[in-house]
Amino acid sequence: MKDLPKIELHLHIEGAAPPSFVRDLASEKNHDLSRIFAEDGSYRYDGFLEFLSVYEEATSVLKSPEDYARLTREVLMRQAEHGVIYTEMFLSPDFCGGRDVGAWQEYLHAIREAAEGAKRDGAPEMRGIVTCIRHFGPDLARETATCAAETAADFITGFGMGGDEGKGRQGDFVWAFDCAREAGLRLTTHAGEWGGPGSVRDALDDLKVERIGHGVRAIEDPALVERLAREGIVLEVCPGSNAALGLYQWKANPIEKLRAAGVPVTISTDDPPFFHTTMTGDYEHIAHVHGWDEDAFREAARVAARAAFCDETTRQALL
Ligand code: ADE
Ligand code: ZN
Repeated sequence: MKDLPKIELHLHIEGAAPPSFVRDLASEKNHDLSRIFAEDGSYRYDGFLEFLSVYEEATSVLKSPEDYARLTREVLMRQAEHGVIYTEMFLSPDFCGGRDVGAWQEYLHAIREAAEGAKRDGAPEMRGIVTCIRHFGPDLARETATCAAETAADFITGFGMGGDEGKGRQGDFVWAFDCAREAGLRLTTHAGEWGGPGSVRDALDDLKVERIGHGVRAIEDPALVERLAREGIVLEVCPGSNAALGLYQWKANPIEKLRAAGVPVTISTDDPPFFHTTMTGDYEHIAHVHGWDEDAFREAARVAARAAFCDETTRQALL
């Protein structure tokens, strides 16, 4: 499983920070983060909302472009160990420079340079998806979208939204998504994770996204499943994340039912050290629990390549 070529479309850069990385940075900066770690050194949280707050607290030690450059390299080199050949990472100006366009450009420059250096050392090709945070509200999302629009090019190729799906509605963020689309960015949003099928419909109808982050709860509505299949809406399914956060345990994850219904599904890890997962580990679980064979994994990687927010030359090299 480790050597199968993998494409990961859904990975939050801060969520991919190993606890040891965050602890080291915290001690370099004399920042007490003991609250967020369990005795065995892993991140400690109980449920999704506490996960979000621990995530934000861990992120608070990432204070400079240099910190993000170190993190980018760390994450990409780890992905290479699991056969990942292409990755799209969610990057949030909310954490990188506080939505100030100039500061964001500095962070981005550092992240990009780190990604290029890591690639020379065997890491996957990377693209960035600028991500607003839903529970920060629509006004801050506009500023984030403006940062995205200002930096839309060959490295920043997408715009998305993460955060608490229980806050507000997808439609509250139309301005941000329209702004990003007009700048030429491709669109995805978290939906159908903590929100039901209605949230997925709103993402498609109001935000006009072409991929859905998670989307698994679409399974509760057969007409929506049929629509996803018909329109070829790609789901960025993160089964290990769903299991760790208590949404679906492995066996109950709808990934196989969705695939069997013709919905294009892909596999990602979301925030792997928080969830004690890796791409290899998730592949092994899916093989074991849902009976996927090598062909099924190769097909999921082809689906991901076709849905990747990259140029045609890069895509062809992945297929
Ligand atoms: N940010 C990081 N991980 C997330 C998740 N699983 N859902 C929503 N927002 C997130
Ligand atoms: Zn996510």
